[in-house]
Parts: sequence; C-alpha cells; structure tokens
Amino acid sequence: MLVDAHCHLLGSHLEEQRLQATLDRARAAGVSGFVAVGTDLEDSREVLELARATPDIRACLGVHPHAAKTWEAGTSPALEELLRDPSARFVGETGLDWHYDFSSREAQELAFREQIRLARRVCKPLMVHTREAPEDTLRILEEEGAEEVRGIIHCFSEDLPFARRALDLGFYLSFSGILTFKKTEAIQEAAVWAPLNRILVETDAPYLAPFPHRGKTNEPAFVTFVAAQLARLRGISPTALAAATTRNLEELCGWAPSF
Ligand code: NI
Repeated sequence: MLVDAHCHLLGSHLEEQRLQATLDRARAAGVSGFVAVGTDLEDSREVLELARATPDIRACLGVHPHAAKTWEAGTSPALEELLRDPSARFVGETGLDWHYDFSSREAQELAFREQIRLARRVCKPLMVHTREAPEDTLRILEEEGAEEVRGIIHCFSEDLPFARRALDLGFYLSFSGILTFKKTEAIQEAAVWAPLNRILVETDAPYLAPFPHRGKTNEPAFVTFVAAQLARLRGISPTALAAATTRNLEELCGWAPSF
C-alpha cells in the first residue's frame, strides 16, 4: 500500500486509454493513492476533473516555475476557485528553477510568492519544486509565511542542511527515483537522516524513472522501486516504509486513500 505523492498523469504522454492502463498497473503493484500535479492553469483544470472522477486520485493545482511566464492577474483567483474543491489537496507545483530558466527569474519569484499567499488563503499545503535555488527558495518560503500551511519539497535533491531548514518550516521531504541513481550520496544522507514521520515517496512521472527503468517513461507503478530503495537505505521493511509514508501524507493533507 503505497501513495505516489507527486505524479503528472495528463498531457500528451498519456491518452485516456493509456492513462487507465497506467493507473491499473500501479494499483496492481500496490499503489493505492496518487497526487496528480498540474503545471499551469489549463492543466490544473483537467487534473481537478480527473481527481473528482477518480477516488484514489487527489489534485495538486498550480503553476510550475517553467510556466511562470503564463502567470497573470487572473491566475490567482481562477486557481483559488479550483482549490476550493475538496478533491484539491495541494497548491503547486510552484517554486524556483534556476537551472533551466524557462521563465524569467522575476516571473518565477512572483508566481511562487503568489502561490504561497494563495495556499495560506485556502489553507492547503504547498508542493514545492526547487532546482539550483536552495537559498532563494528557503528565503521566500520563510518571508511569505509558508510555515503556516507547510508542504512538500518534491523530488528532494538537496542536502542535509537544506533538509534541516525545510523541516524547521514544517515541510516534508519527498524522495524520487533519483535515490536509486549512482552518485547521489548527499540526497541519500538526507533520506536516511530525515525523521520517519516527515518523508514521502513519489515518481514525478513521466520524468525520472528509477533504476532499473532509468531513461524510460516513468509511471506511478515505479514508486515501488523508490520505496524499496528508501526502505533499504533506512534499514526498515518496505511495509513499514509504505505505512509511514501513507500516514505522513494523510497528516499533511488530510487524505488517506482507502485500500
Ligand atoms: Ni513535477
């Protein structure tokens, strides 16, 4: 019984029929819940529709840092309306990506700050994306009072000092397939150090497929490989890891999938 705390289920990579088959493979592999993540306003509308129609899916709605250039005056109220739906459990994914810079840094920072404010208005936790911007991400989370709603540092790929500060803000660390790659010692160190009641597992499908599927299209069924690796690193059973991460998600967003 596992929950994939962050996956992208819509978009050109998944036609309706393939989506159902993908979800069924995950369910057969023991995945009982999915947090489906929107990347812009349009995508978020569709993700919410999917979540409303699918009992084991909940939605995370927002504008990805790559899409921050699409942020405009009407985006926040439109998202707020969608986020009032009980199937919507997280705000995001939002944050800073200083690696790709697909949107200008000014646009990313604006969209990030606006989404933290939005999360506080609707009282829902954040889904944070951060890449090559650790200091700025933490600073903005602190400045905007993100501690009030907490959230997930998704696809955790920082180090122990970052993990400490994120935890101090009440955030949870979600580990992805990166944990199964070589030369990720700093991430593994944080994964072993983090308290059991503050960790999650995710795929970030369709990206970042874990070993032994690295390089292929990722899908939620593969969260089992992430969980197995995290359990191995921490020296606990996969069952204990699954139970803890499922409980953690419920503690954070109030939703536990029924088995
Ligand atoms: Ni993502």
